This record gives sequence, C-alpha cells and structure tokens, in this order.
Amino acid sequence: MIDYQNILNTINQSVRQEKDKGKIASYIPELANVDINNFGVHLQLISGEQYAVGNSQQLFSIQSISKVLSLALAMSQMGTAIWKRLDVEPSGNPFNHLSLLELEKGLPRNPFINSGAIVIADILVSNLENPKTDFLNYVRDITGDNSINYNLKVTQSEKETGFKNYAAANLLKSFNNLNNDVEVVLDFYFHQCALEMSCAQLSKAFYLFANKGECLASKGRLTKSQAKRINAIMLTCGFYDEAGEFAFEVGLPGKSGVGGGIVALLPNEFVISVWSPGLNERGNSKLGMQALEQFTTLANQSIF
Ligand code: DON
Repeated sequence: MIDYQNILNTINQSVRQEKDKGKIASYIPELANVDINNFGVHLQLISGEQYAVGNSQQLFSIQSISKVLSLALAMSQMGTAIWKRLDVEPSGNPFNHLSLLELEKGLPRNPFINSGAIVIADILVSNLENPKTDFLNYVRDITGDNSINYNLKVTQSEKETGFKNYAAANLLKSFNNLNNDVEVVLDFYFHQCALEMSCAQLSKAFYLFANKGECLASKGRLTKSQAKRINAIMLTCGFYDEAGEFAFEVGLPGKSGVGGGIVALLPNEFVISVWSPGLNERGNSKLGMQALEQFTTLANQSIF
C-alpha cells in the first residue's frame, strides 16, 4: 500500500520551504490579487479515497484548465466533426502565440493554445442553447457540485486587457474559422477561463478522464475513446512549450492554467490537482510542477 498522505505531507513541507515561488500572472490584473504563499494538493483515487494537504479547498481561477472541460463538452456534443476546425499537434510555442496561426491559415495547432480554445468556444456558442449557463451546468454536473461559478471580476478584467485574444479571434475570423461574432465568442471564452474551483473540485471534475469517461458523481459524459483522446492531447499539448518538460519530469497527462493550477492524472488510478499561484517563465505553476515531479517519483507511479 502506498502511504499517499505521508507523500503529500512530505511534498507540502519541501515545497513550502522554496524561496523562489515564481511570479503571479498580472497580465490579467484581477489575477494579481492572490497570496503567492497559497499551496494546496488534492488527490482523488479512482477507488474513491481522497487525500489532501494545504489550501486544497480554496477557490482559484482555473483559467486554461477550463479548456479541457470545454473540449470535453464540444466532443460529447459534436463528436469528431470538431477536428475539421483544428488540429491535435503540439505547438512548441507559448499559449498566446499568433504567427503560427497566420502561417497555417487559421487552423489552430490544438485545442489548448488560446486560438484552438477560441475555436472550441465558437463551436459551443453555435451548438448550445444558453452557452454560458449550459457550460457552467456541464462543469457542475461532471463535478457533482452546484456551488461552482464564474468570477465575473476576472471575466471583466480579462475583457479589458485581452488584446492578444482579440487578435487571435480576428485572425481566425479572417480565415473563416470563426462563425460567430468575435465579441460573443470571447465573452464565452473569458467566462469559461474565469471559472473558480478548488483543487478538490478539479480532481472530481477530471475524474471522468481517468475513469474511461465515467464521472464520479453522475452518469458518464464521454465515451472511453473520447477520454483516451483528451488524455493524449493533455500529454502532448497540456503545457504548451513546456509539454516535453512536464512529460519528462512528471510523466502524466495534465493541464495547467495561469491561475497557478495544474491537474494531472493516471488513467484507472488517480487524479491529482495542485495549486500554487507563482508561475515559471513559461506560464506554468513553478511549485505545482515541482510538487507533481516529487509525487510521481515518491509514489513511483506514472504512465511510463
Ligand atoms: O486567454 C488567456 O490568456 C487566459 N484566459 C488563459 C491562459 C492560460 O491559463 C494559459 N495557461 N497556462
């Protein structure tokens, strides 16, 4: 038996001693109002057991982690038709990089870079009756938690400063890969990124990806094949220009957000969510990555 609680306690102790905690994202001004000393981990085993340490119940802005959830809803609604609009190749570039999009004529490399997530947002805006409410309800459903909500201050803050996302959406529009108005699609996208969740809630939301598409709380929302494919994209594209490093150090599919959260999972075994708001130079949680490296090393578990 692996002593998970002991492992989480060890990680908590070692990570909290780190002097360099990275830098809080400030390009979305509202994100800067967070204490850099927050650190939490929640581990959800597929068997049902849970372990936690630190600020694992505190809400934070999930930002790009939401791109996995919007992709899951788009795949469950539209199936494979979505892949006419975007690709599944790692970009090797930062999340908000634009020149590749122009070079590749408006076909985003993958659904986790911003341009790809904006195409997924466009698909959801076209297909959902009440896009923002329906997406929120989907996340509440798969998590089994109706308290989850958007932080509208974060939505507004990103709306006022999201110039590169406006550029990406306009570029997509110029290549006929955006069917709805730029404003409408970005309003949806800025809401989805402004979802607030805790590590504990994120572990529950991501349970279905680790459990062949079956949710913890409610009935399954994905096929086994869809869960497999989303995990593959998390592994190859979940950390942008640091996807190789994450696979090398941690060895799990996962997804990061500029709010400092990371969710990673081992299919059929567990989901682990980490939050530490300080980011490294590539925009991923500095101590979060460190904690996950320690976790897979100490527990001796990874996909490899
Ligand atoms: O679009 C943006 O820039 C943010 N809403 C999300 C970026 C993000 O989280 C990238 N992930 N590390």
